Amino acid sequence: MLTNKILLRNSLQKNQNSSIMALLAQIASFLMVAFIAVFHSSLALSLFEWSCMQGLLASFISYYLRMPLWWVFINLLFTPIVVITLSFNISPFWFLLFFVCLVSIYGKTYKTQVPLYLSSKNVTTILETLLPKQRQFSFVDLGSGCGGLLNDLADSHKNGQFYGIESAPLPFLISRIRSVFQVSNCKIFWGDFWQHDFSKYDVVYAYLSPIPMESLWQKASKEMRSGSLLISNTFIIPGITPYKSIHLRDFSKSTLYLWKIP
Ligand SMILES: C[S@@+](CC[C@H](N)C(=O)[O-])C[C@H]1O[C@@H](n2cnc3c(N)ncnc32)[C@H](O)[C@@H]1O
Repeated sequence: MLTNKILLRNSLQKNQNSSIMALLAQIASFLMVAFIAVFHSSLALSLFEWSCMQGLLASFISYYLRMPLWWVFINLLFTPIVVITLSFNISPFWFLLFFVCLVSIYGKTYKTQVPLYLSSKNVTTILETLLPKQRQFSFVDLGSGCGGLLNDLADSHKNGQFYGIESAPLPFLISRIRSVFQVSNCKIFWGDFWQHDFSKYDVVYAYLSPIPMESLWQKASKEMRSGSLLISNTFIIPGITPYKSIHLRDFSKSTLYLWKIP
């Protein structure tokens, strides 16, 4: 339990650093642009052009700070998108609603650095072929999103027990509503999978991000039973060779990596 907490803390520290660095890049570039605007008043740019300049500077700073590529893009596009959106005359209610939805989907991403994106149908098809057809087994999806993958697998494998753990409120709510109309061998919990014991699962599936993979391996290899299976969609575990890799022809060209616990 203590090791889990240390692993989690290290992972969170890395993640929070990126969010803080992104914020600093935004503030620094904003100040630079404000400085240019004040002291070079001959530069007659539109608000959108200023925002593009700010975005470019923010992305240069984040690139220079060696932040992950997706932060460079976020910093590049953030202010220009805000300016474009404000130019449409939209009622503030929709912004509030949109903001609440975003927070309840992505609000914890600054901590976990695992945003919501969903496994493709090809992933479901391949997982269906990998899971046992006759014998009983248990499967967990770490961060189960809106529950689509789990419900499809639970539907096709009545011999399995399927569990999902999701920390984002809106995807969790959607998956709960979905499971009311769905199969009974699928249970989805709201919570943090780092606090969850993996020892009762035969298959652990993770579609996360590069950040937590090292910590995930340490937790999985400590808690999962020998012979059980860890499957990661897209993200490798640094330094640990999977025993099998399956390349998929879906929109994101994903690869499923499989590790057997020794
Ligand atoms: C990339 S999505 C994958 C969704 C789903 N598993 C799929 O394959 O379609 C990752 C999900 O993990 C959730 N998540 C991230 N960290 C988590 C944590 N520590 N505990 C529970 N859920 C988490 C996110 O909210 C997000 O919905």
